Amino acid sequence: MALPREPLRRGYDVDENAIRFSNYFHVLRELVHRTAGWLPLVPEFELKYRLGDHVHDDARAVSRVKRRLYELRHPSDYPGAPGGELGALLDRIAGADSLGEYLSIAYGEAKPALEAAMRTQLAVLDPVSDEPSLRLLTKLVERQERHVREMGRRAASGERQTTAIGIADLGSLPIELKAEPRALSVTGPLDEPARDPFVEVTREGDPFLGRELYVNDPDLNHVPVEPEEQRHFFHGLMDAELCAAELMARNSHEHPEMPWDFHVDMARQTWDEVRHARLHYVLMPTELGCEWGDYPVGFSYFKSVYAHDLLGRLALFNSTSEQRAMWRHSRRRKVLVERGQEKVARVFDYLLADEVPHVHNGTRWGAYLCGGDEAAYRAKVRELREGLDETGTPREAPRAA
Ligand SMILES: [Fe+2]
Ligand SMILES: [Fe+2]
Repeated sequence: MALPREPLRRGYDVDENAIRFSNYFHVLRELVHRTAGWLPLVPEFELKYRLGDHVHDDARAVSRVKRRLYELRHPSDYPGAPGGELGALLDRIAGADSLGEYLSIAYGEAKPALEAAMRTQLAVLDPVSDEPSLRLLTKLVERQERHVREMGRRAASGERQTTAIGIADLGSLPIELKAEPRALSVTGPLDEPARDPFVEVTREGDPFLGRELYVNDPDLNHVPVEPEEQRHFFHGLMDAELCAAELMARNSHEHPEMPWDFHVDMARQTWDEVRHARLHYVLMPTELGCEWGDYPVGFSYFKSVYAHDLLGRLALFNSTSEQRAMWRHSRRRKVLVERGQEKVARVFDYLLADEVPHVHNGTRWGAYLCGGDEAAYRAKVRELREGLDETGTPREAPRAA
C-alpha cells in the first residue's frame, strides 16, 4: 500500500508540543495521587472498581507522557511546574473535602478538559513529523473519554462542560519551566475503609471463617467444598481483595516521594485487586447462590498491616500474605478441579498468576527502601514474620484475611 503524500500540516513546534504534554502530565499525576487517596473511602463497590481501573490507566498515561516529554527534549521527571491557571484547577482537585466534590471536579471538569485538549492537539498536529504524539494521544484520549462516560451519572448534574473551569484549551496553558516542583499533599491517615451501606462491618468479621482455611500446612489446610462454606469463603475473599486494593492505593497516595514506577506498580495492583473483587462479586450470585453483603466483614487484618510504615506493609502484605496465598490458591484450584467446579477453579488459576507480580512488588520496592539491599529487605521480612501466627495474622489481633 502506498504511503499517502498529503501536504504537511503546520502543527505545533516542538516546544509548544512539550508544553501541552507538560500540562497533561500535571493533571494526570494529580488525579492518580488524589484518586489513590480517595479510593478506600468510596462506599460503593462498583464505583470503587471504576476508580481502581481509571487510576491504573492514568498512572500508565503519566509514564507515556513522561517518555514523550523526554523525546521532545524536555525534563521528563518533573516537567516544570503548572502555571497559575492550571495550578488553580489542581488546587481545587486537591482541596475537595468530600468524595462527591472530588468526583465532580475530577470527572466533571479535569478529565473533560484533558480530553478536549487532547482532541484539539490531534486536530492540529502534523501526522507525519509528530506521528508519535498522534499515536499516543489517540490512545490516551479514548481512555479519558471512556472514564468520563463510565462515571457520567456521578459528575454533578450534567456539569460536564469545560467552561466550569473557564479553561478553553488546557494544553496551551503556560508552564513554569524553572519553578519548584508542585508538592502533593497527603491526606490524614485512614481510619478504616468504606463498604457499601448494606454490608455489615463488625470487629471480628464473619465468624464462619475458620483458621483452617488460611494455614499453609497441607495436613491442616481446609479447602471449602460445601456450598455454605464456599459462600462465606468467597464473600470473605471479596472483602480481602478490596482491602488489598485499598492498602496499595494508600501506599501510593501516602508516598508521593517514591519513583513514578512505584506508583504505576501500586496502581496496577490496585486494579488487579478490585478486579479480583469483581470476579467474586460475579461468582457469588452466578455460581454460589449468595451476594455481596450477605455476611459481615471486619477490618482487623487491614488495620494491622496499615499501621506499619511502607516497608512494613510491603514485607507483611506483599512478601508474606500474598506470597503465602499463592500456595493456598494452587491447592484450592486443584481440589476444585477434582470436584468438577471448573469455573470456580479457573478463578484461582488467575488469582495465582496475578499474585506473582504482587509478590514481586514487595521485593522490588522493599529492596529499594533498603537502599537497594535485597538481603536487608529479606531480613526485615523475617523479623516481621516472627510476630505472625500460622495463618499470617498478628498474634495479638483476630484473624480477618
Ligand atoms: Fe487479589
Ligand atoms: Fe494480590
